Amino acid sequence: MVSSSESIASTTTADNRLQLDDLLGPAALSHQPQSPQRELYQGLTQTPKTIPAQYFYDERGSQLFEQICDLPEYYLTRTETSIFRTCADELAQITGPCEIIELGSGSSTKTRLLLDAYQRLNQKHQIADLKYSPIDVSPSILKLSAKQLLQDYSDLQIQGRVSTYDLALAQLAATPTTTKRLIGFIGSSLGNFTPAGCDRLLAQVSAALQPGDFFLLGIDLRKDPAILEAAYDDAQGVTAAFNLNMLQHLNNRFEANFDLTQFEHVALYNQTTHQIEMHLRSRQPQTIRLKAINLTIELAADETILSEISRKFDPAELQIQLQNQQLHVQRIWTDPQNWFGVMLAQKQ
Ligand SMILES: C[S@@+](CC[C@H](N)C(=O)[O-])C[C@H]1O[C@@H](n2cnc3c(N)ncnc32)[C@H](O)[C@@H]1O
Repeated sequence: MVSSSESIASTTTADNRLQLDDLLGPAALSHQPQSPQRELYQGLTQTPKTIPAQYFYDERGSQLFEQICDLPEYYLTRTETSIFRTCADELAQITGPCEIIELGSGSSTKTRLLLDAYQRLNQKHQIADLKYSPIDVSPSILKLSAKQLLQDYSDLQIQGRVSTYDLALAQLAATPTTTKRLIGFIGSSLGNFTPAGCDRLLAQVSAALQPGDFFLLGIDLRKDPAILEAAYDDAQGVTAAFNLNMLQHLNNRFEANFDLTQFEHVALYNQTTHQIEMHLRSRQPQTIRLKAINLTIELAADETILSEISRKFDPAELQIQLQNQQLHVQRIWTDPQNWFGVMLAQKQ
């Protein structure tokens, strides 16, 4: 765990409204008992092979994700946005003024609806500053969105972290504060975790909160498999490009030699586990070397690498899972079609 501020590269801008901490830089990582790359190594050496979803997000991956959000088939962003438009003020009223911390903040586009609501709330309470702490593994999108937010919100103080969820949540748990926290995890990202991984993440979130603090969750709900499969395999092929770009990211970052033309994008809904499974299918037998992590893997023809699961939730089941981590659900908002859910839970 990162134990001292000296070990984290931290940048503060001239106007003092932006602080950026890099928890993935060499100085910070030398304090970690386990390298985050270990998960990649483990994933590629198990059967079936997997690649952790965080490797979608280099600069190009973040750009492609933004394009996905605008696709006609990708109802998730539109629907979650429509829910925030109607619930943001009520949500801010329930929590009261607080620091907004966001896991996997990306472009922070939907977050603006929350920031607007908290700005209105702060004005009522005559609170001058709004604190926002975005956390994202992709430095390019984090820096770009922080810059744009500071231009648009004159009262905003940003403390960004280039970090994995694990590292940032560990740091938050180790630095409790008297300021009320709202940890947000929106955009259906909890769906990328297996049920066991989900329990682990919820426990980490709970540990980063004090009693009375809040957790805000955006989750995709179960629906017609045809709608789900189209959302992850769009007609323009943007999701396919996003999936394949993960291999290019590994090529650039770990001196790997994936030939992208030798893989194809596959997205299927598993009705038993209620999850979309995105794969990269090998078109032929091939040997891949990832020099920087000293790993060679063999792929058979048609063998698939699982690149993402996207679980579709039953809110009642998730409510119990949250409660098991002392996170008591206070309110659930959905859209008229019941396609997406936004849950607000309070730490007990
Ligand atoms: C599906 S996008 C969601 C972005 C945004 N929250 C939204 O709702 O549109 C997931 C975001 O989480 C980031 N991310 C993925 N895995 C991560 C991890 N393990 N730790 C930190 N950030 C991660 C990605 O870089 C990306 O910006």
